[in-house]
Amino acid sequence: MDNILSDTALEEINRYGYVRTQLRLHAPLIGQIRSHFQGIAPRASNWSFFYTNSLHQYALTRWQRLLFHMKKTFTAKALHKAILGDRYDKTIFGSTDLLPLVLNECITNDIGSFLGDVPLIVAHDIYLENGRDKASFGFHEDGFGWDNFYQSGDDLSFYIPLVDLTEETGGRLYVEQNGDKTVRYRDWNRRILEFSEFCQSVGAVDERGLVTQESILQSSQLKRIAQQFIKITDGRKDLPKPEPEELKPIDFKAGEVVLFNNKRYHDIEPWLADHLREVYIIRCVPLYDIGLAPPSHFLNDVPCNRYLLNDQGRTLMPFTPEDELPQGYPVPVD
Ligand SMILES: [Fe+2]
Repeated sequence: MDNILSDTALEEINRYGYVRTQLRLHAPLIGQIRSHFQGIAPRASNWSFFYTNSLHQYALTRWQRLLFHMKKTFTAKALHKAILGDRYDKTIFGSTDLLPLVLNECITNDIGSFLGDVPLIVAHDIYLENGRDKASFGFHEDGFGWDNFYQSGDDLSFYIPLVDLTEETGGRLYVEQNGDKTVRYRDWNRRILEFSEFCQSVGAVDERGLVTQESILQSSQLKRIAQQFIKITDGRKDLPKPEPEELKPIDFKAGEVVLFNNKRYHDIEPWLADHLREVYIIRCVPLYDIGLAPPSHFLNDVPCNRYLLNDQGRTLMPFTPEDELPQGYPVPVD
C-alpha cells in the first residue's frame, strides 16, 4: 500500500486495518444512492454469478468440462438462491452513475490528503443490503477472481455504510490489524505477477503485450494457463491466517467514508436492528505495471474499470479499458 496512501494513512491502515477519513457524504447523496438501489429488484443480485465464469473449467478434460457445465448451471442457481436466502437481500455489483458523484464529492472534501502517488483504477461499485435474518459473507479475505480480472494485493475499498453502524445495531465491518506484519503481505502481488509472467512466457498476450481474458482464452496453452492459475491462487490457502477474534470492529455514521484493503481478512458482525443494513462500496485497484489489462466488463455484461482517480486523488478521469492507460507503477513484491 506504500505509494497508494499518504504516509499517515499508510501507518493507520497497517496498524488498525482501515483509514478513517472523517469524510461523510451529504444527506441528499446518501438518499440518492439508497433510492437508486431500492429501485433494483433483489433478484437482480449478481454476486453468485462470479462462479459461472471461472478459469478453473479450462483445466478440466472434455468430459469433466461437460459435467462442470451441467453442475455449473445448477450450482449457480443454487448459490444465487442461497445468497439471497441467508446471506444478503441484495448484492449488486456494477459500475453505476453514482461512482463519479460519490468520488467527486470525496475529491472536493480532500480525499487526496489520504492518498499517494499511484493512480487508482475505479473498478466497480457494490451495494449490499440485508435484514436481521441474514448472515452476510462472514470471515474471509477477497480472492483474485478470473471474472474481475485486474486486481492486486493492495486494492483499496471505499466502504460507505448508508446507515449508522454501532455496537447496538451490529453489522459493523471487522478488519485485520497489523496486516503488513504477516507472511500474507505482498503475497498476492507475487502470485499475480507470477501468473502474468507465465501467461507472457507462453505468448498469451494481446497486441499491446498485455495479458487479457481474451488473450488467455484464445491461447493454445489455455489448459496450462488454467492449471497454473489454480496452482498459484490455491497456494494461498496454506498460508497462516489471523484468528477471527484478532479483528477489530469499526463504528460508522451513515455516509462515512472509510478506506480498507479487501485482500486482508475482514468480517461482518450479525445485524441486530429492525431496519435494513445498507452499504455502498467502491472498489479501486492501483495502477500497477503488472502485465495484465483491466477488462471493460465483468459478470458477463456489467461494465467495469471506467474511471481513474489520478493526481494523488484530486482528479477523476473517465476512461475505457481500450484507451491507453498511463504507465503503471512497479508492483511491490518484496
Ligand atoms: Fe469481502
